[in-house]
Amino acid sequence: MQVEPGFRARGRFRTGCPRPGRPASGRHESPSRTAYTGPDRSRAPGGRHAPRSAPTAPRRPHATRRSAHPNGAAVTGPAFEALRLRRSHSKHTDEAPSRAELEELLSAMSSVADHSSLRPWRIIELRGEARARLGEGLAKAAGGDREKYVAKAKRSPLVLVIVVSPRASGKVPLWEQEAVASGVAHYLGLLLHEAGWGSIWKSGSAARDRAVRKALGVKKPEYLLGWLYVGGIPERDRKPKPRKPLDASRHLTAL
Ligand SMILES: Cc1cc2nc3c(=O)[nH]c(=O)nc-3n(C[C@H](O)[C@H](O)[C@H](O)COP(=O)(O)O)c2cc1C
Repeated sequence: MQVEPGFRARGRFRTGCPRPGRPASGRHESPSRTAYTGPDRSRAPGGRHAPRSAPTAPRRPHATRRSAHPNGAAVTGPAFEALRLRRSHSKHTDEAPSRAELEELLSAMSSVADHSSLRPWRIIELRGEARARLGEGLAKAAGGDREKYVAKAKRSPLVLVIVVSPRASGKVPLWEQEAVASGVAHYLGLLLHEAGWGSIWKSGSAARDRAVRKALGVKKPEYLLGWLYVGGIPERDRKPKPRKPLDASRHLTAL
């Protein structure tokens, strides 16, 4: 599998949240947070870091560059690039995004497609000993050893539990509401990656188990879509993940 040329590992912290001991400049160069964040366009004409004097094409809102598509119609930009580069990380360092940083990332979820704007979701933040609650629930659900499951839940410094919080609606069925919560989880993983954090979405049958819901204080009609393990990306994992090319003709059909 070929890795596309032009990529390099680079630290980036773009959300602008001040962090302890660090300037609120929106940039963070901690080596342990260096994520693979895409092509180095710093020397490209009109690139992100191009000198102000460089001739640049007039900017169109939301678009940074035209694709090489023959009809010139398709436009790609930061969202395209972020999605193309996103990957999960299952191993994490002890660093984690702060509460303030999470709130900032979540503020972007106001634009997630959401029929009737019900916002039928919430996220439970588990840090420190609170993570043991998830482990205890998992142990009960599996009928297994508490210590083993607590250690599992503590594998990362931060766990974000994804909860569907259905709202009463005569118009919006449950599956549409679940789709919103699912979208939030996907976008959150994407934004975390873009900000230089690692995450991986886990679930398994335990996510639907009553013991897990109870341990986390989730009562019906709420239910879980699983949880994101979140943390810093270890040095050895700061590399792109080769992907099998996607055959668009299989996934984009027409009548
Ligand atoms: C809803 C959902 C639940 C998942 N549950 C698990 C899980 O329990 N265990 C697991 O190993 N991967 C699980 N995954 C897959 C991982 O999150 C991840 O996508 C996979 O390891 C592939 O890595 P990638 O995201 O870099 O392609 C789940 C993904 C989704 C969307």
